[in-house]
Amino acid sequence: MNRKKIAAANWKMNLSQDEGDQLIQDIIAGIPGNLACEVVIAPPAIYLTQMIKQLEGTDLQPAAQNCHPEVSGAFTGEISAAMFSRIGVKYCLVGHSERRQLFDESNQFIREKVDAILENQMIPVFCCGESLALRQRNEQNDFVRLQLEESLFHLEEEQIRKVVVAYEPIWAIGTGVTASPEQAQEMHAFIRLMLTGRYGQTTSDTIRILYGGSIKSDNASILFSQPDVDGGLVGGASLNASSFLSIIEAANT
Ligand code: PGA
Repeated sequence: MNRKKIAAANWKMNLSQDEGDQLIQDIIAGIPGNLACEVVIAPPAIYLTQMIKQLEGTDLQPAAQNCHPEVSGAFTGEISAAMFSRIGVKYCLVGHSERRQLFDESNQFIREKVDAILENQMIPVFCCGESLALRQRNEQNDFVRLQLEESLFHLEEEQIRKVVVAYEPIWAIGTGVTASPEQAQEMHAFIRLMLTGRYGQTTSDTIRILYGGSIKSDNASILFSQPDVDGGLVGGASLNASSFLSIIEAANT
């Protein structure tokens, strides 16, 4: 199955506006001419308006790191999916483990965000993945299954086709410990099996499943060459133009 790979950058709460501008300029300057993958950039929300102007006429797509499911209202400090969509944001991360752990986001709340992102014509990048304790007890599959069931499996077939899944084992995020290509492939195959069980093979075959967690320029190629790994969601290594460009190269084959 030939799925278009994605190289997605998650800047998290990093970089000044000037540093972000420069990084985008350097990425645009270095992007391969024969781009066959999608390149998605999720900066801090406050930089999005300016970044969207910078990305005009390029192949790079702007993304939000989070959103609120309500359209508007008394939610101090929040930004709605509708607001992001109206300014031209195309993708929105949802269910990142940092949101789940540090901000107590539940599968139910994440489900509401997934719905809001789709209703506003954006593409959800749905993050899932287990903690080290769960993996040590060999409970990672049950945990990820529940994340998918409770936040995604209410979707209709034509909706799930728009979703991008990102498997990000928590023990690999920002730790320098990357899942081995075999560990990543094993979980990605499990996720695809779950999708097949719920939506059938044809639909499941179209859904991109990204890996995230300490992707670097030197491990991206081997990870992305696994049959069910359709690119990556990159944190730390996306803050540097040359390392992110080599990850784009790895996704571009
Ligand atoms: P990392 O982060 O690449 O720094 O491990 C990935 C992520 O959290 O999306």
